[in-house]
Amino acid sequence: MEQATAQLTINQLAPALTGIRLSLHVMAATVWVGGQLTLAGLVPTARRLGSTAPGALARSFARIQWPAYAVLLATGVWNVFAVGTSATTAWKAVLGVKIAVVLLAGLGAWLHGRATSKSGLAAWGAVTALASVTALVMGVFLAG
Ligand code: HEM
Repeated sequence: MEQATAQLTINQLAPALTGIRLSLHVMAATVWVGGQLTLAGLVPTARRLGSTAPGALARSFARIQWPAYAVLLATGVWNVFAVGTSATTAWKAVLGVKIAVVLLAGLGAWLHGRATSKSGLAAWGAVTALASVTALVMGVFLAG
C-alpha cells in the first residue's frame, strides 16, 4: 500500500508554475552548458576556416551565454524560494556548494573571455566547463 502511494506521487504531473520555473531553468542550462561543450567541439573546424574564426564564434556565443547565465541565476533564486524552505540540511549543503560552483563557472567564463595566452584560454575554459557540468549534476540531485 505504502509502495502504491509512493508510486502515485512519482507519477503526478508538475503544477503549471513548477513546469514553467523548471523549464526556464533547464533551458538556460542547456544554452550555458550545452553551448560551451558544442562550441569546444566546433573549434577544430573553426580553426580550419581561419585564425580569427574561433574568436568570432566565441564572441557570438557570449551574446547568448550571458543572458542564459542571468536566467539561471534568476530562476535559481526562484527555485530556492519554491523548494528550499522545507529542505533537509544535506539539501541545503549541496545547494551552498552548487552556488559556489556556479559563481566559479561565471568567473571562469569571464576570465576565459579576457585571456590572451593559449594557456590562459585553455585553463579558464577547462575550469568553466568543469564547474558548469558540476552545477548541472548538482541541480539534478537537488531536484530529486
Ligand atoms: C551554471 C548554472 C546552473 C546550472 C547549469 C543549473 C542546472 C540545474 C539543473 C539541470 C537542475 C535540475 C532541474 C530538474 O531536474 O528538473 C537544477 C535544479 C535546481 N537548481 Fe540549478 N543550475 C544553475 C544555477 C543555479 C543557481 C544559481 C541556483 C540557486 C541560486 C540554483 C538552484 C537550483 C535548485 C534549488 C534546483 C532544484 C529545483 C527543484 O527541485 O524544483 N541553480 N539546476
